[in-house]
Amino acid sequence: MPGGRELIVVLDFGGQYTQLIARRIRECRVFCEILPYHTPVDELVAREPRGLVFSGGPASVYGAGAPTADPRVYGLDVPVLGICYGMQLMAHQLGGRVEPAAFREYGRVRMEVLDASDLLAGLEPQEDCWMSHGDVVRALPPGFRLLGRTEHTPVAAMGDPARRLYGVQFHPEVVHTPKGRTVIANFLYRICGCRGEWTVASFIRQAVEEVRAQVGGARALCALSGGVDSAVAALLVHRAIGDRLTCVFVDHGLLRRGEAARVVQAFRDLGIDLVHTDASNRFLEALNGVADPEAKRKIIGREFIRVFEEVARGLAGVKFLVQGTLYPDVVESGTSTAATIKSHHNVGGLPADMQLRLVEPLRWLFKDEVRLVGLELGLPEEIVWRHPFPGPGLAVRILGEVTPEKLALVREADAIVEEEIRRAGLYRAVWQAFAVLPDIRSVGVMGDSRTYAHTVAVRVVTSEDGMTADWVRLPYEVLERIASRIVNEIPAVNRVVYDVTSKPPATIEWE
Ligand code: XMP
Repeated sequence: MPGGRELIVVLDFGGQYTQLIARRIRECRVFCEILPYHTPVDELVAREPRGLVFSGGPASVYGAGAPTADPRVYGLDVPVLGICYGMQLMAHQLGGRVEPAAFREYGRVRMEVLDASDLLAGLEPQEDCWMSHGDVVRALPPGFRLLGRTEHTPVAAMGDPARRLYGVQFHPEVVHTPKGRTVIANFLYRICGCRGEWTVASFIRQAVEEVRAQVGGARALCALSGGVDSAVAALLVHRAIGDRLTCVFVDHGLLRRGEAARVVQAFRDLGIDLVHTDASNRFLEALNGVADPEAKRKIIGREFIRVFEEVARGLAGVKFLVQGTLYPDVVESGTSTAATIKSHHNVGGLPADMQLRLVEPLRWLFKDEVRLVGLELGLPEEIVWRHPFPGPGLAVRILGEVTPEKLALVREADAIVEEEIRRAGLYRAVWQAFAVLPDIRSVGVMGDSRTYAHTVAVRVVTSEDGMTADWVRLPYEVLERIASRIVNEIPAVNRVVYDVTSKPPATIEWE
């Protein structure tokens, strides 16, 4: 386990907030891992966790095929905190009674704290908490005390301090439970006896040791995309093996304004060996005359691999490939030790015959933790906080055929959007802000003459993870500045529109 001996295991019963539980625990500086609910008890014991958390989940404990825990976990003398379904399961397995709720509670609810015990220490007699459940615990299991209740939930929190088993019906991991962090910290520090030793610095120390042990005296290769994940992965590996890491930055010519130069400069400043290949002409030629979105993506992926392969073949003795895989990908792929080479989501696949082994130093981290590690390793803030950018670049923001003229146009418009969003102090608050060039022209008037020119669409969204998104209610003055600068500074544009669709039903990108 990277960076310390204190481990909490979150058993996942299919809840939508499981990853959020893990993040909250990490925010308390305690390392935690998410494992499937059916992980054998022996495997749990072998990890020597300080505590277990049962996540929420969509099932009902009485339903056919409802996920359950191996009852032996309650006898391990390891504290357990059950959350929502996790609490119901605990009650059900330990002899309490769970029933469908007469009134479903959903959203913010007032809880009466009857007995703070260790779990609710520091809470007021009345606290808001956030509920989302269909069943309730009607009767406590033997040995448990009632710690809190709400109007319609007879057991909102329960605990058996002697056995260190606790449950909450509400969700302490969501921000809508104002004292949720206190509850989680109480479980970790007071009940499990954790000290909070997991820090960015301890993670880096441990990750560097692990990379050294894995790579030995061999050489490693890292494909940089310009994004924060591959950059931080490269930096960590560089700290571990120094000059035996070579970074390859394939510039497909579809990047944002100044992006290639920024990445190259940052890595040179950090003293990292970087091969920068300007392949823009090759990509533009391959895209010539292609209008179909999927065909464009495929061509870009294919060319990327070819260029990467050409560069890699010229480097002798490379045995490892560094990837910026993050913890959510690892959890979703169902294993915490993903070892096979999967297609790199940024570069679209890897040459099958290269036989490189993977180094994934960020596979334990969430995105926000990657940023902190990047800052600690000296990555410039500009890169650390850079908005996500699609692998196929500006090509998916030019609807239809990509031409050098359209590319120049959308790049200029994109730079204006970014400048104005930064000027308004909104850059860090939004997920992405960019310009799109739909394949339409419309009539306008400039001076005394009629124009027939391009329309630019502006897209600014907030999002947690890119899976869902909402359009940003930008102040009118910001929209006005963006629109007037685009039509004034880019002669081929006479109209600007703002995209006011969320995802779903739209996607963030237009292609
Ligand atoms: P969509 O358009 O699917 O995008 O709502 C969700 C997020 O993913 C980014 N995106 C990509 N990232 N390669 C990437 O690395 C891609 O091909 C790609 N397509 C979309 C998009 O910018 C957004 O953040």
